[in-house]
Amino acid sequence: MAAASKKAFRLLVLPGDGIGPEIIGATQRVMRWFEDHQGFQFDVVEGLAGGASIDSRGEPITAAVVQLALGSDAVLFGAVGGPKWDNLPRAERPEMGILRLRQAMDLYANLRPAVCFDELLDASGLKSDLIEGLDILIVREATAGVYFSLPRANETGADGQRRAYDTQAYTEAEIARVCHTAFQIARGRSSRVCSVDKANVMETGALWRTVATEVGAQYPDVELSHMYADNCAMQLLRRPKQFDVIVTDNLFGDILSDAAAALTGSLGLLPSASLSGLDNPGRSRALYEPIHGSAPDIAGQGVANPIGTILSFGLALRHSFNAPEAADLLERAVRRVVASGVRTPDIAEAGVAAVSTVQMTDAVLAALNHLSVSS
Ligand code: NAD
Ligand code: IPM
Ligand code: MN
Repeated sequence: MAAASKKAFRLLVLPGDGIGPEIIGATQRVMRWFEDHQGFQFDVVEGLAGGASIDSRGEPITAAVVQLALGSDAVLFGAVGGPKWDNLPRAERPEMGILRLRQAMDLYANLRPAVCFDELLDASGLKSDLIEGLDILIVREATAGVYFSLPRANETGADGQRRAYDTQAYTEAEIARVCHTAFQIARGRSSRVCSVDKANVMETGALWRTVATEVGAQYPDVELSHMYADNCAMQLLRRPKQFDVIVTDNLFGDILSDAAAALTGSLGLLPSASLSGLDNPGRSRALYEPIHGSAPDIAGQGVANPIGTILSFGLALRHSFNAPEAADLLERAVRRVVASGVRTPDIAEAGVAAVSTVQMTDAVLAALNHLSVSS
């Protein structure tokens, strides 16, 4: 009984919009495989987020769904947004669904790995030798900065001019805690952290650099460097393998993580984890989602690449379900599938027949069966 209950977890699943339900459906098949073969029990509750929630509940996420998220061991999120809701005022858009969750769950550390599958070197626009073996982790601050600071407005002044403004604000505590996460993770990798800011232009950048340096002094075994965000964007394209862990603010992290993803060939492959803290893993809240969006251009066609979401579930196994061996198994299964040449259209070389979302998922399940029998 004790052994059985040890592997039972409450999971809130929010498929969202566009390809969200397709890639989440694929991932739930993988989840069931782990229930059937590895002794897990996932008590899954499904909820609405984004445009789906706007259409049926009138807001991008309801307080009830936020409560469910706070009471879950992990949230698995698809993607939100789409042209249908693009003309709504900013505060009512589907994207507010994920932003509200990040803030309510205090998910300040958004981990965005960019790992190159060497079997897919040709899918990247860069020369193979620049990205072969690439393994970067961007730690993006995700609950503060310009995404959330006040005041912000889009208004018309007395002179009839429209004027809009946002505020970028960070406290030292907000900077320090995400830096601690980056340094702790770097210890398990190659012990290098690059802190990225605009300390040459922004007050928040200057504080970011000061606090990152102070936190860094507590990790003498980890090498800390600093880089301006514009240079970082350039260096990611020029010599990406110089980076190991990058820690940066909310907006720079959003942009630089898409750039890093493009290096690997496809947005569709990459997972992410958003955590409330590594210091107390048993109690930290967590949300897992692919780094891509709802891909309205391919939604409903059954061709979305499910790997980013499947690997996000893998990160949940690792960080929330205390199951690193199960996470390794899933990652090996995905690698095996990619190595065998199975390709959804986003990663297919010209002239190669591509498979559907369902077929890609079938291949991952077959690889899991194969690896678990042969191990
Ligand atoms: P996107 O990531 O949805 O799509 C960019 C390109 O990548 C598209 O050509 C798309 O077809 C392709 N792509 C993305 N995921 C794929 C997958 N799994 N398989 C194959 N191809 C894939 O970005 P966008 O077009 O800028 O945004 C579309 C909508 O998604 C917008 O409403 C945006 O706000 C939203 N968005 C949501 C999230 C999120 O929910 N976390 C993240 C980013 C964008
Ligand atoms: C992401 C997305 C979100 C962000 C949007 C959908 C709010 O682009 O997760 O990267 O800007 O953080
Ligand atoms: Mn983004």
